[in-house]
Amino acid sequence: MEIFQTGTSLLERKQFGDDFLYNFHGFWFTLLFLQGTQELLKQFKPLPNDVILASFPKTGTTWLKSLLYAIVNRSSIDELTRNHPHLLVPQLELQIYGPQAISPPLFPSLDPSSANRIFQTHLPYQILEETVNSSDCRVIYVVRNPKDTLVSVWHFVNSLELAKTAQWPLEEVVDQFCEGFLPFVPYYDHVLEYHKKSMERPKKFFFITYEELKSDPKTHVKKLAEFLGCPFDNEELVEEVVRSCSIETLRNHDVSKSSDVFSFYEFRYNSYFRKGQVGDHKSYLTNDMIDRIDTITREKFQGSIFKHEADSS
Ligand code: A3P
Repeated sequence: MEIFQTGTSLLERKQFGDDFLYNFHGFWFTLLFLQGTQELLKQFKPLPNDVILASFPKTGTTWLKSLLYAIVNRSSIDELTRNHPHLLVPQLELQIYGPQAISPPLFPSLDPSSANRIFQTHLPYQILEETVNSSDCRVIYVVRNPKDTLVSVWHFVNSLELAKTAQWPLEEVVDQFCEGFLPFVPYYDHVLEYHKKSMERPKKFFFITYEELKSDPKTHVKKLAEFLGCPFDNEELVEEVVRSCSIETLRNHDVSKSSDVFSFYEFRYNSYFRKGQVGDHKSYLTNDMIDRIDTITREKFQGSIFKHEADSS
């Protein structure tokens, strides 16, 4: 099986569930994502009007998928009541180029009649650099504070069938996060590089935190629309977009409650809408865990990402 490109240094290690992780360009991947990533790097040629949503897992990707879809496709906003956001906006390395991708891919966000095709990826800029710079496509990056992110990862993995018999201990997740050994980790390098690009090239890269979006969704939805070149001229429409994409609305659609498993991934439709709260980690992490993560966050981010103490604490 040809899974590794020439010149790629490779390390593999077993993680929870006996799955192996592979190190590719300094980041860890499961085999499924590694294969999809390599296909993507060979084949994907973004168009100038494409929009690529990039994120580390569990940072609000599903929310941003629904928001971007609603902003770009205002007249078909009600698609969100019938379709899971993951079936509206596909993940490149999974749903388009992954080994279990549906062929030929057909997603509403790729409709040629839409001004902008929307894709999503969890790939770091360090891997996607040449691809995203090969056209004038725009990139939106969402980040979330690391403690809520890893608590969300922990819940998400424990929602899997394989975790029914033995749950993934939180201590192990924290250790692995701090050590830099989880899918798509190192988190800090993932975040910092996109942040740097957004400072250098603000017309191409838009950087947003889950926490700021949560605290003032209307303002940030308007900024997103301006960045995408389709500003709102109607305040009511902004409110409708925010309302249609809120976790309270989305989680109540039948499609979000379904316990069906996606055809391209082992997770259930209903595992993407949990609490959606800022600071949820406080209910799970010990003070010692919080101190460990905060120390790394301070050292790596040096206050550059989460400006307000409340966002990261
Ligand atoms: P919690 O596990 O903290 O509740 P992702 O979409 O990147 O997988 O992230 C999932 C996280 O985003 C989960 O966080 C989930 O509850 C939250 N989420 C999903 N939809 C959301 C929405 N519309 N608004 C806010 N948060 C949302």
